[in-house]
Amino acid sequence: MNILRLLEDRVIKALVAAGAPADTPAMVRPGARANFGDYQCNAVMAAAKKMGMNPRELAQKVSDHLDLTGIASKIEVAGPGFINIYLESQWLASAVHEAAHDPRAGVSEAAQRQTVVVDYSAPNVAKEMHVGHLRSTIIGDATARTLEFLGHKVIRQNHLGDWGTQFGMLIAHLEDLEKENQEAVSMKLSDLETFYREAKKHFDENPDFAARARNFVVRLQGGDEYCLKLWKKLVNITLAHNQEIYDRLNVSLTNNDVMGESAYNDSLPVIIKVLGEKGLLSEDDDAKVVFLDEFKNKDGDPMGVIVQKSGGGFLYSTTDLAAIRHRCHTLNADRVLYYVDARQGQHFEQVYAVARKAGFASEHVSLEHHAFGMMLGKDGKPFKTRAGTTIKLADLLNEAEERAAALIASKSGDLSEEQKVNVIRAVAIGSVKYADLSKNRTSDYVFDWDIMLAFEGNTAPYLLYAFTRIGSIFRRAGISMSDLQGEVIIASDAERELALQLCRFSETLDSVAREGLPHQLCAYLYDISGAFMKFYETCPVNREGVLPELRNSRLQICALTGRILQLGLDLLGIETVEQM
Ligand code: ARG
Repeated sequence: MNILRLLEDRVIKALVAAGAPADTPAMVRPGARANFGDYQCNAVMAAAKKMGMNPRELAQKVSDHLDLTGIASKIEVAGPGFINIYLESQWLASAVHEAAHDPRAGVSEAAQRQTVVVDYSAPNVAKEMHVGHLRSTIIGDATARTLEFLGHKVIRQNHLGDWGTQFGMLIAHLEDLEKENQEAVSMKLSDLETFYREAKKHFDENPDFAARARNFVVRLQGGDEYCLKLWKKLVNITLAHNQEIYDRLNVSLTNNDVMGESAYNDSLPVIIKVLGEKGLLSEDDDAKVVFLDEFKNKDGDPMGVIVQKSGGGFLYSTTDLAAIRHRCHTLNADRVLYYVDARQGQHFEQVYAVARKAGFASEHVSLEHHAFGMMLGKDGKPFKTRAGTTIKLADLLNEAEERAAALIASKSGDLSEEQKVNVIRAVAIGSVKYADLSKNRTSDYVFDWDIMLAFEGNTAPYLLYAFTRIGSIFRRAGISMSDLQGEVIIASDAERELALQLCRFSETLDSVAREGLPHQLCAYLYDISGAFMKFYETCPVNREGVLPELRNSRLQICALTGRILQLGLDLLGIETVEQM
């Protein structure tokens, strides 16, 4: 049951019956305040203006036509022309009953099934994943899971940085190491950062090494087998390292999702050819450039996007153009979502503009840069180690586990060793992920261990704990969900409030999928946990004297709350535990 979609549907019908054009947006929202209804429709003011009508009069007409028999107990016109909708408690109760017995917890499939390409993670070869890649990886993954759950066809694309001139020095360094001995090679490569740094050092300080490296670049680009073999070795080691991180993070990416930059090598000349044929290319100092009138530089002249350097080399932008073409023409995407940090905003705007002009993406495809801000330390500066270097993801997760272990040791006395290990992992990884996912991705955020590991507030431990409490209610009741029958009864305000929230799961996921903003799901889960705590204070379940039909009803409400928490956390890529 998707209440928002249902109401929008009925509101559109009423608007049309009242004389408004069929494309008038319904603008139904959850009521902004308690006395504004459970939902409100804000469409009338703008529609009345267009139609040259008095908004109050139009609102009255729309509400007269608004057929919500059995669904709403009251429809009222308020203020300049708002329509407030109060839902029938009985109807909410039956929606909760239905959702409680539905494995999808009442979530409707998307109205239109789309093919959505999600570009996320995209770390670079021979470099270890660091905190900068964390945001892309987990926000992209949460959105991908949500889209999939709603029935869309999701194609994950890990646009691995696996090509470029840096491979000359990396190959040269690898060759040197291999001459030394095999053991040294595998040892050095277990620490990719050091490997990269050493290669760079040789390149900067040793002219012979640098010359060899440059020669390797040429050979690699020419398809030389020896160079390709060493390159492939570096790629595979990086992939294995990344996969360990993905598995630890409970991120759904696998090697099958890797579509690195190198995969587009053969299509880069084609891109240039097509741009030329469409008359989009200009020469500038022997480089090939596409000028875009819609982007002006500081002198007010059209800005140019270089697609081929004077020496013939291609650029990051050229590869992204080829990727768009592949995603639109071969993968048949309806939407392409890019989880890349905000600093690349202009790059994507330009690439999208060129892709549209060249026909690599038709106007029907939605190209969306889902930008995110930086992770900051407590000092408000970019999050770094004390020594000022970037923090490796592996180290960050180790620290999370150490901290979670200390926390759990002080809290959970009666868990078995095996249970403890699982709880520590769930709390550690869940906290790091949730701290990030719960913030609006568009802004920077401060990474703070103490806040993310707290049992109070909008945190993973709070939600994980709320979930275990529901489990313990069922254990105490000695009953399982499948044994529950009978009606759901809404007898108190706390029950009604929780029921209403539970029925908003479907529309929340719609919004997350549309905007790629998982923090909306986090806020929702936090809200239902709060509503649940209030419900549980006033509506006892296991206490003596509770009427059997009330107990039965409340257990169904508990069960749906638990199911939504678990499903919601799962869509965020966060594991739950039964006890903690
Ligand atoms: N590898 C790049 C980086 O680490 C991110 C690539 C993002 N995706 C893309 N299609 N350009 O910054």
